Amino acid sequence: MTKKGPIGVFDSGIGGLTVAKAIRELLPNEDIIYFGDTAHLPYGEKSAEAVQQYASAITQFLIEKKGCKVIVIACNTASSLAFKEVVKAAKGRAEVINVIDPLVDYIGEQMFDKLGVIGTRGTIQSKVYSTKINAVFPKVDVVELATPLFASMIEEGFIHNDISHSIIEGYLKDEKLVHIEGMVLACTHYPLIKDEIAEFFNHKVEIIDASVLVAQRVKVVLQKEDLLCKVSRGASKFYMSVYTNSFARSTEHFFGNELIFEEMDLWSN
Ligand code: DGL
Repeated sequence: MTKKGPIGVFDSGIGGLTVAKAIRELLPNEDIIYFGDTAHLPYGEKSAEAVQQYASAITQFLIEKKGCKVIVIACNTASSLAFKEVVKAAKGRAEVINVIDPLVDYIGEQMFDKLGVIGTRGTIQSKVYSTKINAVFPKVDVVELATPLFASMIEEGFIHNDISHSIIEGYLKDEKLVHIEGMVLACTHYPLIKDEIAEFFNHKVEIIDASVLVAQRVKVVLQKEDLLCKVSRGASKFYMSVYTNSFARSTEHFFGNELIFEEMDLWSN
């Protein structure tokens, strides 16, 4: 691991850009390599084995071909189902950070009685949030709800319009969410509809988004391991497993124009 190595960030598509953007803002000197596995989107509907294979191959690419010093699993589904496999694929050559632990630590500081968690089917079925939160804070009532259409809806650009309003309402009016005090966005795509979700709850529920918390965790880990890049670099490069307009458009939206994109198929050989 060297200070010069980039930070590797991956997700199934554009969701992890919310995390990459927070890292870029907090750590402007660092180079970032982003991998959006658009060929396999949505991860939330895939088997655990499939997500483990995708995540391991991306990790190997980011370390072996790109020399990344840290891997940020900017995807809740992969963090829930494939964390161990990513650590294994890293073989101690890079630090590995998931999106769940920084959020669980934050929850502990807020003292919620009832907390909602929304995410993909894969994340929700894994019960990773209720298990991790209740292991440390057994009194918090954690209510988990799968909202499988959200990631594809966002990836297709249906946000801030009638379609997104109806789908959001369709899921969030679920009775089990009544009286929640906080809502965890347990999918990195969801910060893109954070304000619509806040509006659905009349701004009376705290909407908790992991991106800044994860960026802070990256900084702490790099500091601790003495891996922070001291010179000003700050380049970003974006790979996608299959070109999609949505990925290109969203990346430009988050990181500005004139970005370097490359299509990278890690699976056919
Ligand atoms: N952004 C991802 C997550 O945090 C995955 C969405 C998907 O591909 O289903 O879970």
